Amino acid sequence: MNELDSELVRGQLSALGYTFSDNPDAAQVVLFNTCSVREHAESKVYSRLGIVGQRKLAGENILLGVLGCMAERDGLALLRRFPQVDIMCGPGELDKLPALIDAARRCEVATAAERTALAGDRTRRSAVLSAVQDDLENLDLSRAFDPIVAGRSVFAAQVRITRGCNKFCTYCVVPNTRGAEVHRPPDHIVDECRKLADSGALEITLLGQTVNHYRYEHGAAVTISGREAPQIGPGLAAFRTAIPAGKRVTTFAQLLRRIHDEIPSIARLRFVTSYPRDFGRDILETMRDCPRICRYLHAPAQSGSDRILKLMNRGYTRSQYEAFAAEALEILPDATIAGDFIVGFPTETDQDFEASCDLVRKLPFKNNYIFKYSPRPGTVAIERFTDDISNEVKKLRNNVLLNLQTETSARVHAAWVGRTVDVLIEEVCTRRDTQPATGGVELRWQTKASKNETTPATTLRGRTAGDLIVSMNTPSGSNPSDFVGTIMPVRLQNSSSLLLHGGLTTHLVAPPKRTAHASK
Ligand code: 5AD
Ligand code: SF4
Repeated sequence: MNELDSELVRGQLSALGYTFSDNPDAAQVVLFNTCSVREHAESKVYSRLGIVGQRKLAGENILLGVLGCMAERDGLALLRRFPQVDIMCGPGELDKLPALIDAARRCEVATAAERTALAGDRTRRSAVLSAVQDDLENLDLSRAFDPIVAGRSVFAAQVRITRGCNKFCTYCVVPNTRGAEVHRPPDHIVDECRKLADSGALEITLLGQTVNHYRYEHGAAVTISGREAPQIGPGLAAFRTAIPAGKRVTTFAQLLRRIHDEIPSIARLRFVTSYPRDFGRDILETMRDCPRICRYLHAPAQSGSDRILKLMNRGYTRSQYEAFAAEALEILPDATIAGDFIVGFPTETDQDFEASCDLVRKLPFKNNYIFKYSPRPGTVAIERFTDDISNEVKKLRNNVLLNLQTETSARVHAAWVGRTVDVLIEEVCTRRDTQPATGGVELRWQTKASKNETTPATTLRGRTAGDLIVSMNTPSGSNPSDFVGTIMPVRLQNSSSLLLHGGLTTHLVAPPKRTAHASK
């Protein structure tokens, strides 16, 4: 979600004539787009703010801004701690950023109110919610797709389908920092996807905190001009009841099918993040019937213990998660499943942790991101529970679960060896020749070969529709970069826990021509 916000900010500022620098020391405006989900991410921002702040104190003329969740959550307290910050802009106010930069540039001494655009409690007050959402909607609608970012070609784009979240998992700051769950009108989403596809995007990822809960009721929210407007999500109950007679609703399954059928130039349609509850059979069947929808499900389990899931307010049990995974694999046998786990949630016993380990052993997770619980201000968990698991225990559990996941990932990857799959080739890499005797492939990606290495071989790197990472040797006599931005059949030959390795099956023929846009 943050990456998309950065892209929208970039597009908005580019349109106003700002140019971007890879070197922060050369920039006159430095903006940090921040995340509050875990403390670690916040600490990094504080240290970078300190560094830029020192340069300002030394007399450099820099405009410094904090965007996103940290600005929203810390607000004026952050300004007091870092008085060198000129701009503070929450994720729900990004459309106001150009005006804030302009004001900060023109006023030598702006008041705190002039330097900030934070939603505060507003995002949860329905009276003003629609106005806020309309502004944000315009920001998404006005985006420009730049097929070349920082000198590299871009084939993948993201489109938001919902904003905010209504689930209130007890550990999570998102409902506070991003506000109530709001669903965008399907026509806006389809238009944005079409615009991106026309500009060269081969792969589009639909974004939302719980995408399968997307549900737009037509006629319920319109603007004065009669256009459909974003609307507040119907809540969990809506997924347990039939659509009332006479109401026209677009469900997530219908949205997927519309995009798939109406924009055939999208080679890959993906979505994140799925909520393991209420993941309807209609969605799985749509994925089965639409070949360009990727069979990839990022559906965080968070824990394998029912007791902890309840304390987390996740709204499902472990067996419900298992049933979701079983149904997905029954309808889509090739699907890959990934997710997130939190270890060291308050009161987590060895037995609770073992339940998470057991889930990672039993289910064919392609990968899992594993996080140590981090108490976040403003969440229910920080108020309700003592953070009673020591950092040592959290670290240990993190390592144990990571090791188990490595074994599971290796098994999942190994099962693909021998098959031929389509790979979207994304980049050319140089490879250290460090293939272990087991036949597995251990690759390290690097931009330059260092002196004491064997001569690096050139490889291509890409992803399957199930988000498996694949490395491929470059066919002899060909120019590797000709393959970048194409989807090619690859025969998978061996695997490791991190990736698969294979050969392009069309090595005797010239690589296909990229679209005019993709090769721009
Ligand atoms: N502590 C640790 N991990 C967290 N996540 C969200 N909030 C916290 C927290 N307070 C993790 C969850 C979520 C992912 C994006 O971040 O696993 O799925
Ligand atoms: Fe946070 Fe839960 Fe919403 Fe995900 S579903 S964003 S973890 S509150």
